[in-house]
Amino acid sequence: MAEFPTFTVHLECSSTGARYPADELHGLSDAGKPLLVRYDLNAIRRAVTRETFAGRAGGFWKYREFLPVRKNADVVSLGEVMTPIIELPALARRAGAQHLAVKDEGRLPTGSFKARGLALAVAMAKAFGVRRMAMPTNGNAGAALAAYATRAGIESDVFCPADTPEINVREIDLAGGRVTLVDGLINDCGRLVAEGRERMGWFDVSTLKEPYRIEGKKTMGFELAEQLDWKLPDAIFYPTGGGTGLIGMWKAFDELEAAGLIGSSRPRMVAVQATGCAPIVRAWQQGADHAEPWQNAHTIAAGIRVPGAIGDFLILRALRESGGFAIAVNDSEINEGLVEVARTEGFLLCPEGAATYAAWRAALAEGRVGPHENVLLFNCASGLKYPLPKGDAHL
Ligand SMILES: Cc1ncc(COP(=O)(O)O)c(C=O)c1O
Repeated sequence: MAEFPTFTVHLECSSTGARYPADELHGLSDAGKPLLVRYDLNAIRRAVTRETFAGRAGGFWKYREFLPVRKNADVVSLGEVMTPIIELPALARRAGAQHLAVKDEGRLPTGSFKARGLALAVAMAKAFGVRRMAMPTNGNAGAALAAYATRAGIESDVFCPADTPEINVREIDLAGGRVTLVDGLINDCGRLVAEGRERMGWFDVSTLKEPYRIEGKKTMGFELAEQLDWKLPDAIFYPTGGGTGLIGMWKAFDELEAAGLIGSSRPRMVAVQATGCAPIVRAWQQGADHAEPWQNAHTIAAGIRVPGAIGDFLILRALRESGGFAIAVNDSEINEGLVEVARTEGFLLCPEGAATYAAWRAALAEGRVGPHENVLLFNCASGLKYPLPKGDAHL
């Protein structure tokens, strides 16, 4: 296959704006903040049209002009697909709303949207000749890292909280990742990775501590724009842990506009968390720019059990700029939502996805979203990767 033209110009500190060269391996900026990849968007504008993407296959790799991978040989693939947007008409009707849909990320390799970010991080690691990668994870990201790293011939070390669902731990192990169970939460795992980085020669791929996972996650924004005929929804409900997907989509919309593919209207971005771990919701309610770490974090929605996010200020900024908000739901509401959606629409959400449904119901009841708004929920993993709750009948 012919090489794609590439448009990366530099990396930029998300806090200070300081610039860094693109073609070197990077972690955080000198200010200790996430780095963002910047492209020559005027040149992309001249190179692509909406039609450019219509005939392309290859899942998220088809947006290569907007991605930092320069050579086809560095692409690492396990058969990525464009994830479907599934209408939930019966539930919309029941709630008195016109329209509700969910983007189902559970169809990706390793059964979650973590495939997007880790495919990109591993591809860039491959391009830079990295031999060993490491990360803290609540499960899904570790599985994606292990799978893509093994595919690329790179070693992976994965640190999970000891109560991570067993299916995730086994999946990581089977895919060739070296798993360490840690008596603590994801931030304790992150500390172990940071401490071992020098000694072990790891490329640390913790959420937003390197610049490439977000580039993969942002493809959710490209994909949904293309799927919706380049008209974005009114609101996006996103299950927010580290927030990479939310920040990534917000970045994607700006890039799409600069490249002439969409106009200036934007969805309201809604960050959904669990009441047992809601640092972003608390910061939002306080009008703060940063979120204080959450103590004693707990929720059945493991993927959003993130007590402190390094990209907190970027999440809060996207909520503010988009006119969105942050909202928390409790574990019973998550379970009830999961059962209700499965029973009504035949669609099995993961707990984090069910949190977005429960949050939408609550926001609708409180008038924070209107019944005419075109809302898109995110189901970021296959419901089959989790212990299943019992419904209230047929068992
Ligand atoms: C299923 C699921 N949903 C949501 C999230 C949160 O994603 P983000 O880090 O982009 O906020 C995760 C992260 O582990 C997850 O596994």
